[in-house]
Amino acid sequence: MKGTAPAGISTEQEASRWVRGMFGRIAPRYDLANHVLSLNLDRWWRAETVKRVRQILDRPDARALDLCCGTGDLLLALQAQSTRPVMGSDFCHPMLTSAQEKISRRRRSCPLFEADALALPLPDCSLDLVTVAFGFRNLADYRAGLTEMHRVLKPSGVAAILEFSQPGNTAFGKLYGLYSRRVLPLIGAALSGSRDAYAYLPESIRKFPSAEDLAIRMRAAGFRTAEFFRMTGGTVALHLGTK
Ligand SMILES: C[S@@+](CC[C@H](N)C(=O)[O-])C[C@H]1O[C@@H](n2cnc3c(N)ncnc32)[C@H](O)[C@@H]1O
Repeated sequence: MKGTAPAGISTEQEASRWVRGMFGRIAPRYDLANHVLSLNLDRWWRAETVKRVRQILDRPDARALDLCCGTGDLLLALQAQSTRPVMGSDFCHPMLTSAQEKISRRRRSCPLFEADALALPLPDCSLDLVTVAFGFRNLADYRAGLTEMHRVLKPSGVAAILEFSQPGNTAFGKLYGLYSRRVLPLIGAALSGSRDAYAYLPESIRKFPSAEDLAIRMRAAGFRTAEFFRMTGGTVALHLGTK
């Protein structure tokens, strides 16, 4: 498999269908599970991401897209700092419905569209910023995902990938491993009503490339620079790539 590999799935099409169906089932409870399981740190991780790309959002002509936007938390955090509407896309309709409700409740205006991150309906070199938070890990083909992000960015445009990572073989790493394998699936299942979604989560993090490896893959996909910042003991990493 070139990307995510849920248990018992053997082709990219099946992986993609499984991921879309799984997020569709947990969409109504996704935010609650997210905030509880991360002890609310997810808000801080997204705020840090916005800080790192703020100079792009400050530009009055900046065109930005939040890929795999889910229920819209990063999208809204980006929009709060942007003078122009930030777009959001996802391939899971129930997630986009939740995002639209949240955007309307907050009286914001962010254009949303339903699309696979591996085949965006956007011209080459059309964006200044592409972000993705906790969505990249779920793509069926990581190389294709990076190539697509690179394609839609203008020269000097920036890709920001916020994703879970592995904290390494420290005492904290071992404790985190225990939490993510034993505790998180139980709480996640209780909150969301979906056992398979929260069994998949730690498994998909374990199989995901290391932060160093992802930076190498970004350069291989054509990014001129690729740097990363670890957060919360290395459990999360933010990668920034410049085209
Ligand atoms: C863990 S959620 C993250 C949502 C949001 N970005 C956040 O920070 O909470 C992952 C999202 O990625 C979306 N996704 C996964 N694979 C995708 C793909 N190939 N194309 C578009 N969206 C995808 C899922 O539908 C889901 O909404």
